Formats: sequence, structure tokens, C-alpha cells
Amino acid sequence: MADWVKSGWRNKPRVQMPVYTDAETLSATEAQLAKYPPLVFAGEARTLKAALGQASRGEAFVLQGGDCAESFSNFSADSIRDTFKVMLQMAMVLTYGAKVPIVKIGRMAGQFAKPRSAPTETIDGVELPSYRGDIINGFDFNAVSRVPDPKRMLQAYTQAAATLNLLRAFSTGGYADVHQVHAWTLGFTQSDEAAKYREVANRISDALDFMKAAGVSQDAAHTLQSVDMYTSHESLLLEYEEALCRIDSTSGKPIAGSGHMIWIGDRTRQPDGAHVEFASGVQNPIGLKCGPSITSGHLKALMARLNPENEAGRLTLIARFGAGQVGDHLPRLIRAVQEEGANVVWTCDPMHGNTIKSTSGYKTRPFDSVLREVREFFEVHNAEGSIPGGVHFEMTGQDVTECTGGVRAVTDEDLSDRYHTACDPRLNASQSLELAFLVAEELSNRRDTVQPVAAAV
Ligand code: PEP
Ligand code: CO
Repeated sequence: MADWVKSGWRNKPRVQMPVYTDAETLSATEAQLAKYPPLVFAGEARTLKAALGQASRGEAFVLQGGDCAESFSNFSADSIRDTFKVMLQMAMVLTYGAKVPIVKIGRMAGQFAKPRSAPTETIDGVELPSYRGDIINGFDFNAVSRVPDPKRMLQAYTQAAATLNLLRAFSTGGYADVHQVHAWTLGFTQSDEAAKYREVANRISDALDFMKAAGVSQDAAHTLQSVDMYTSHESLLLEYEEALCRIDSTSGKPIAGSGHMIWIGDRTRQPDGAHVEFASGVQNPIGLKCGPSITSGHLKALMARLNPENEAGRLTLIARFGAGQVGDHLPRLIRAVQEEGANVVWTCDPMHGNTIKSTSGYKTRPFDSVLREVREFFEVHNAEGSIPGGVHFEMTGQDVTECTGGVRAVTDEDLSDRYHTACDPRLNASQSLELAFLVAEELSNRRDTVQPVAAAV
């Protein structure tokens, strides 16, 4: 990528991006953002890449999760804390099943821009531009709010910085100390998962007591007192990404300063398009959403473009086909990866292929379909001799009613009770934990069936 420049995407075909009408405000905003400090540093992105490299070999497992779209109005310390807490609980359950470290990546601190299936929305005969995420325009259905406003990028930056600050504090300031495993129980008092979670928590406490009694070193104790939590978002709004792109002083190479990992959406992955061009030149780990329309040829071209050096941990392929469809698409893609000898992390997003309109009119996702897609993902990997490296969820720590089903059985009629998402329906805390148990089970079955490489005698 010797001739790559951060503005090179501007010469490529672009889709799903806003057309700003106020060019002067746009360039003033870009200039201002370009002077701000980056939100993340190259060394952190490198550490994440190494961790993802482990996941590509089955030595770690990825848990990526958070809002579909972060919003300015739902921004609060409590909601960040609750999502972080559920991710820690899920990670604990997964570690227990997978017996490998869990790489925790939030869809947080930058997940503001949304691709939409239609450019406009019509309500009661009034047609307006679609809402594209708080970094672009307003959610309110009126003509003024729907005009793309470049200054929103500054508010998104500020919110992302504050979110990261809190996540860093939670990660290292004692909150994530594994000895708190019993304190992370949220409001799960009556659910089945709560009982299962407490059982896992008890076993972990026993193991900790044992380690203490056995005099395990201070270093190990320190490791258990903090966690690594990374941030990620869809790199959709390229004006924002370009303005936060920096040169890493250690390597002299460009790095997206907007988040540790960025991904390319299923609608913007054209190999010669603007989004792939931008991602191809930055050093961060890159995610690539793979939906039903991706062919093996596309995937091979994208792997060559996004990971020409075949670096482990650089590219994560996020499969999102929909329950019942994984077997139709994933095998050909796994084979394309195998034919190229490509190093990738395979993760499963069981959300975006399972969105339906409920009878009550809300956009929802049946929890059973989510579970089914996860199971199919594991089955196909097992059959193809490939490694399932992680999961990617839209979830929140709040007790919302956006996806139907789960042990606490959210029904179509319940959806209106606490439907707060700014975009797609998210799993609530209880559904997220339930899913973590399922994944842990799949992972431990896999450990029991996969034969270890012949031991040297
Ligand atoms: C998303 O992750 O919010 C999203 C829009 O996904 P996809 O590009 O897979 O549709
Ligand atoms: Co979404």
C-alpha cells in the first residue's frame, strides 16, 4: 500500500454516505477533528491484532457486542456500565466453556453511523431522508432533523472519548477484578441463567481461593484484577475516519484513531469502493461482514485487498446469513479461505440475517433464530474442519424488550414496553447471558470432539 493516502477513498465510488449540503461547515469540522487527539493508540490496535491472531488459531475466542447504534440521547454512565458488566459475565461463562482467553470488543465508543436499506422513509404519506445514525442526522421525523449536519461528528467524538474513558477506568480500576465475579449479578435474581451463572461464579471463586492458598504469584493476581476491553465500529462515515487517521510514530504507518477495530458493512464491501479503499491502508484489525450475496470470488478479492501480507489477526470475517441459511453460504466461503491458505478469524453475527417485522409492527429478532444461527455456524465449521473464532452480537445491559423469546419469554405484545433501540433490536441482559451459555456449551463440545494434534513422544 505504498501509494495509499487517507483521502484516497474520495476518488472511489461510495454508497451509504450522506450528501452534506454545507461544504464550508463540513471542511471546518474535518479540520477541527484532524487536530484532536486520536481516541486509540497504535500499540493498543497491535495488541488486539495479536489477540485476534490467537483467535484465528483457536487459542482465544472473540466476544464482540454492543449497540446497533449508539445514540446521543441514551448516553449515560449506567448504560455503559451495564453493557460492560454483561460482557464481563458473558466472557466469564465463555472462558469457562472454551478454556481459552476471551477477546472482548465493544460495539462502543464510535458506533454511530448506519447503512440503511432505503434512502428515504415514508410515514403517513410524508417522505423524508432516512435516519443514518446520530453522527449524521437526527432520529426525529421532521425535515430539519433529517438534514445531515457535519457538526454532529464533533459530538460523536466527544461521546466516544467519554465512553472510552469510562471503559478504561472500569477495565483497570478494580471493577473488572475477577474476585468481583459474584457482584456482577445485575438483576438476574429469578432467571435460570442467574442460577447457572452463580454456579459458574462459585466454581471460579473456589479456584481463586485455591490459587490464593497455593500462593500463586502477585503477577497472576494482577492479571485477574484487570481486563482488556477494546472498541470497534463500522467505518462508514469516511469523513470522520479520515479526520481521525494518524501516522503511528513507531511503524510510520497509518492507523485509524477512531477505534481499535473497524469493520466494513455488508452493504459497503465493494472491492473497488470507497470503504474498502480506506480500510486497506490502515493498520488496525479489520472486520468484514459477509452476507448471503458474497461469492467466493468476492471474498478472495477482498482478502487480497485487505490482507495482502496474510497477517494473522488483521482480518475477521463476520458471517451473517440468517438461521437456516448458514449451510447454503458458509461452506463455500470457508473453502475459499482454505484454498487461499488465508489467516482469518471467523465470527458469527446471528443478528443481521434474522430481523423480521413483528405482528405488533416492531422490527424484532426471534431469540430462537439467533440461537439456531449460532448452532449452525458451529456445525458448519466442525464439518469443514475450520475454526469458529468468535461471536458478534447486538446487545445491551439494560432490560429492554426488543428481541422476542428467551427464557423470560418476551412476546410480540411485550415489545412496546421497553423498545429503546435507535436502530436494530438488541438482546437484553438476560438473553445475552443465555446465549453465552449456549456458545460455551458448543465450545466445550467442540473441545471434547476435536482431537489434539498427535503428541510428540
Ligand atoms: C450492523 O452491524 O449494524 C450492520 C448494519 O450490519 P450488516 O452490515 O452486516 O448489515
Ligand atoms: Co444493526
